[in-house]
Amino acid sequence: MCGIVGYVGKQDAWPIIYEGLKRLEYRGYDSAGIAIVDAQGDIQVRKTVGKVSGLDEAATTGHPQGSVGLGHTRWATHGRPSHDNAHPHIDCQQRIAVVHNGIVENYLELKQWLTGAGHVFYSETDTEVLTHLVEEGMEQGLSFQDAFRSMGGMVKGSQAISAVLQGEDSEICALRLGHAGGIVVAQADGQAIIGSDLPALLPLLQAESNTGQVGFLETGEMVVVTLDGVEYQDLDGNPIVKQPRLVTQEEVLVDKGGYQHFMLKEIMEQPQAVASAMRERINFDTRRVDLPDFPLSTEEIAKLDRVMLIGCGTSLNAAQVGRHLVERYSGLPAEAESASEFRYRDPFIGPNTLVVSIGQSGETADTVAAMQMVKDKGGKLITICNSEGSQASRIADGSFYMRSGIEIGVASTKTFVASLTILNLLAIYLGQSRGTLEPAKFQELVDGLAQLPRLMGELIADSSVYQQMAQEYATFDNFLFLGRGMNSPIASEGALKLKEISYIHAEGYPAGEMKHGPIALIDSAMAIVALAPKDTLYDKVANNIREVKARDGRVLAVLTEGDTQLAADVDHVLYIPEAPEHIIPLLTTVPLQMLAYHIALLRDRDVDQPRNLAKSVTVE
Ligand code: G6P
Repeated sequence: MCGIVGYVGKQDAWPIIYEGLKRLEYRGYDSAGIAIVDAQGDIQVRKTVGKVSGLDEAATTGHPQGSVGLGHTRWATHGRPSHDNAHPHIDCQQRIAVVHNGIVENYLELKQWLTGAGHVFYSETDTEVLTHLVEEGMEQGLSFQDAFRSMGGMVKGSQAISAVLQGEDSEICALRLGHAGGIVVAQADGQAIIGSDLPALLPLLQAESNTGQVGFLETGEMVVVTLDGVEYQDLDGNPIVKQPRLVTQEEVLVDKGGYQHFMLKEIMEQPQAVASAMRERINFDTRRVDLPDFPLSTEEIAKLDRVMLIGCGTSLNAAQVGRHLVERYSGLPAEAESASEFRYRDPFIGPNTLVVSIGQSGETADTVAAMQMVKDKGGKLITICNSEGSQASRIADGSFYMRSGIEIGVASTKTFVASLTILNLLAIYLGQSRGTLEPAKFQELVDGLAQLPRLMGELIADSSVYQQMAQEYATFDNFLFLGRGMNSPIASEGALKLKEISYIHAEGYPAGEMKHGPIALIDSAMAIVALAPKDTLYDKVANNIREVKARDGRVLAVLTEGDTQLAADVDHVLYIPEAPEHIIPLLTTVPLQMLAYHIALLRDRDVDQPRNLAKSVTVE
């Protein structure tokens, strides 16, 4: 949600900020802006509605020159995407420019007070109050840093805020409140960059080693960046000694690798993603899952009485699959729920409840808040996430990183299959530890997982089948995705992918529930995608498919290779290779991702940056 980039140094700031914003566009892309402190010390602001590239046009007569500046790419919360609502926001006297990621929960109250004090507002955003608060502080005689800090003490909500001051000795301040917005800081060779996320820091990576030392702001911390260096403080102004963390090129670099879209590249990376998720977590000699970092002892695992899995969006669909796996292999009751519902219903969490949070970013506001609640209630908490050092990993008792590499496509793909892989490992590990899985059974399950990279590779080897199927179905305006058991959440994931990137109405539904309502929708204009791989529920789904065919529905079925019988009863087929039941959901996912991708291409959609969405939603 919203990307921030700031630069202080000796180089031309505009291109560094512009490139940084482009690399953070996955966080939001409905408008963008850059403020540069020019040679006279004045603040020059350029804004655009739409993507960051629009700033090129905003700077056709040459971009403002200066070596200090602040930029922003927005995902609107308060106020529609417009020139006035785009950040940076400047004060009445044009001395301060502010960018912001998150929500100022008490902005109405603050706005009223500021208006009474004579401040004039030009936008509909909550952010603008921040600018006026800093201005007000300076009018009361505070220094820029003190006014910025005092503003931080007045606002409610979870957010990251940064501001730049005009003048020849210009400086940038940034702070973080709550869990919604991260700020990372890198410095090298007399220059510094701050950003919402690591890709903004690329210019300051060491060229030879492709690594860099990065400071991560914790909640309640502030950073002041001047030409003299970087200083970390708490919100009382006391200096903080921050241990920077070494980040690698892989964490920072973003590149399409020759593919037309990040999403396609990331789909193609899935065989490696599942392999990395398993790396060093399986002992292939003993054929056991081995999780030395599991934060609970065998005794604590034995005492568990319940497992709760939470996440949002794609990660919620992963949680739903995880529920089946955990219940089946650990013998523990397991439930899955969206973090946004879970956090507001005062759920029962006891000392023997294990909560597993799932999230690509580890920064989704609802997931992080739900995790904090679990922690406060004394439950056991682990997270499956892709971003090391994320909020989720800091709150959890233990983290299982997906190790998928950065995912840029807004629609998650490789991190979904990585989540499912780790959920399999967790479920088997719990079963091993609790003795609910006999050695012969867990060895068989481990052998099944070992086949995953190869089987996923087979599925993506030939894109032409998916392209052809997309041609058949791209004109349909309504889709129903059906599945049962572990493939019911995969049906939801298939529908979500199609909705997200092609803007087609699609619903995922448990196939057995179809007769209780959705069946009324079925006619020749409704496309049905039915997941009917050879698993224990195969016969049941086959019956549901026949119910659809009896009502003129058009059916594209995902079947196991060799299933000619059901193939004869449907309109089109996409095959997955024969596989053991616990890995089937990972395989049925792939044709659905490919179908959504190729339909979106045919509909000429912006696959990597679909409208209204953002990669990580750090507001509730
Ligand atoms: C956003 C993205 C979704 C993603 C969801 C959860 O809505 O657009 O693709 O599934 O956030 O993100 P997380 O990082 O928690 O997995």
